[in-house]
Amino acid sequence: MTTSKIALVTGGSRGLGKNIALSLAQKGIDVLLTYHSQQADAAAVVAEIEALGRKAVALQLNTADVSSFNAFFAKLPETLQATFGTTRFDFLINNAGTSLQAPFADTTEVQFD
Ligand SMILES: NC(=O)c1ccc[n+]([C@@H]2O[C@H](COP(=O)([O-])OP(=O)(O)OC[C@H]3O[C@@H](n4cnc5c(N)ncnc54)[C@H](OP(=O)(O)O)[C@@H]3O)[C@@H](O)[C@H]2O)c1
Repeated sequence: MTTSKIALVTGGSRGLGKNIALSLAQKGIDVLLTYHSQQADAAAVVAEIEALGRKAVALQLNTADVSSFNAFFAKLPETLQATFGTTRFDFLINNAGTSLQAPFADTTEVQFD
């Protein structure tokens, strides 16, 4: 029996991460994706992946809040088991984040953060 590979795509709910998640699914890879706040967008990507015949699930993750990581790690094995029947994954695509293009001299402290 061939077992599908599983990719964890952080920030897979929009933009480049969404494109990566869908491209991996088209190649036959199951996907666990994360989102920050846009749960509906994440659910729509999960539905698109499932429509491609692959398994998918979404978890909330804020990569800017290190104190939340232990709660994420605690949820990960049970989520993998429930969705894919295993507690391991094969590929990590560490994509989550945002970028802002502004001249250095005009960048505010809030923008920098
Ligand atoms: N687009 C470019 O031209 C470009 C160029 C160079 C580098 N990058 C890098 O490539 C990555 C993706 O860029 P993008 O343009 O595809 O971004 P995007 O369209 O803004 O999507 C960002 C993704 O990351 C998630 N996210 C945002 N803040 C987060 C946080 N604090 N913790 C966890 N997840 C968070 C978002 O979740 P929600 O949907 O829930 O907000 C979304 O899934 C970023 O790291 C960016 O810096 C992009």
